Amino acid sequence: MGRPMDDLSRRQFLEGAVRASAAVTAGLGAATAVGASPAASKRRVGANDKIVLGLIGCGGQGASNMRRMMDFPEIQVAALCDVDKSRMPGDIRDVTVKYGKQPELYQDYRKLLERKDIDAVIIGTPDNWHALNLIHAMEAGKDAFCEKPISHDIVEAKAMAGAVKHYNKIVQVGSWQRSTGEFYSAIDYVRSGKLGKIVQARAWRTDDNRPGVHSPQPVPSYFDYDMWVGPATFTPYVPEHTHGQWRWFLNFGCGEAGDWGVHMMDIALLGMSKDQDLVMPVEATTCGGKLAYPDDPRTAPDTTVTIYRFKNPDFVMTWETGRDHVGRDGSGLEWIAADGKSCMAWRGGWMVREPDGKQIPVESIPVPNDHWQNWLDCLKSRQQPRSSLASMAQTTIVCHLSNVSLLAGETVHWSKEKMDIVGRAGKHTGSYGRQYRAPWRLPIYTV
Ligand SMILES: NC(=O)c1ccc[n+]([C@@H]2O[C@H](COP(=O)([O-])OP(=O)(O)OC[C@H]3O[C@@H](n4cnc5c(N)ncnc54)[C@H](O)[C@@H]3O)[C@@H](O)[C@H]2O)c1
Repeated sequence: MGRPMDDLSRRQFLEGAVRASAAVTAGLGAATAVGASPAASKRRVGANDKIVLGLIGCGGQGASNMRRMMDFPEIQVAALCDVDKSRMPGDIRDVTVKYGKQPELYQDYRKLLERKDIDAVIIGTPDNWHALNLIHAMEAGKDAFCEKPISHDIVEAKAMAGAVKHYNKIVQVGSWQRSTGEFYSAIDYVRSGKLGKIVQARAWRTDDNRPGVHSPQPVPSYFDYDMWVGPATFTPYVPEHTHGQWRWFLNFGCGEAGDWGVHMMDIALLGMSKDQDLVMPVEATTCGGKLAYPDDPRTAPDTTVTIYRFKNPDFVMTWETGRDHVGRDGSGLEWIAADGKSCMAWRGGWMVREPDGKQIPVESIPVPNDHWQNWLDCLKSRQQPRSSLASMAQTTIVCHLSNVSLLAGETVHWSKEKMDIVGRAGKHTGSYGRQYRAPWRLPIYTV
């Protein structure tokens, strides 16, 4: 059975918007001062070919994706890359055991991308690196599995979507909720019209993260910390604020909006859309800040409410981060109909309720969580996968608008046609576009 998100017959985000010649303002590899090799691999994967993978970023999620892919007989993992060598031993061991051969090891992903035998890469780096990792992978002729949120800011998201389109590569984003039964069933129910006319959506996440006050430390010899910082603004090495904890610092990550908002708002938006080309808000307003933990060094807000307004269809969506979650899961989303009926979904379940809270019996559609299989299938069929980069660029931009409005302190306006903020409000913020630290620079593929 086809899934709603697999319908690629309709208009896709950006389809036709990228000029065939893609007037790139940064060169095709060669002009990127610190870019990947311009010698892009031309190899296309045949239905029965081995697919050779490299992993960039051997942290929690990158390694988890790699292990999922190692379950498939067609996959061969040939190379691992991490700027911190201390993060690699478990992955080196497992890959060596599986294939009877140690993978090649890299600290600089550009060297990995130079290898002609590598067909595709998994990008599991922190958010500050996704744009360069992905665009350089496209320039080097690779397909990719890129973690969410696709980018650190809006300018990057657009450049990435342009690059994927220009190089015609297959990119799955790690928003695996698109592939699980509870979210699939809820989206299908809402799209079928059974809930009625939807006027409101809400998505939320409880946030209790306090990285704490810690001092800078000497950088260990096995860690290329300057490369870890990459295009972000340089800050001294504080171990407790580095691996895993970068999320709470807007210089590197996007706070809860990019961490969980990108999962939960994605499902809410899919329910309100016909296909992967998502409905986009016309404006976003965020209130909040570091209200609960003002003394913690995190720079991402801990308490926020963002109100998004949509036109055609007309509805409002809220994104909330806070501390309590009484009577509901710590993260989730809900659609509310004009008559007060609602459909709620969270990791592990979904339900439909009358306005008085009484549950309406519903049937779940049993589908396997085949997010990684879907990428593998698409590498062979050359169709864009269920979480295409183009579609997830839209969700990611919606999430960035939450931070943009908070940082700007005013309402920001979005145009789907222009794929940009309308007016000046918000354009000065780091969540709209960051100043790249030299020598790094973002290749701009226009859309
Ligand atoms: N899809 C999901 O459910 C899910 C869950 C968790 C995390 N994620 C995403 O996965 C990504 C990684 O998150 P994580 O929690 O695994 O982070 P992490 O900090 O544990 O791991 C990131 C790894 O990347 C390495 N790295 C940093 N810069 C690099 C570079 N330039 N080249 C090579 N390696 C580099 C780091 O040293 C680290 O080992 C994030 O974008 C995050 O949002 C997705």
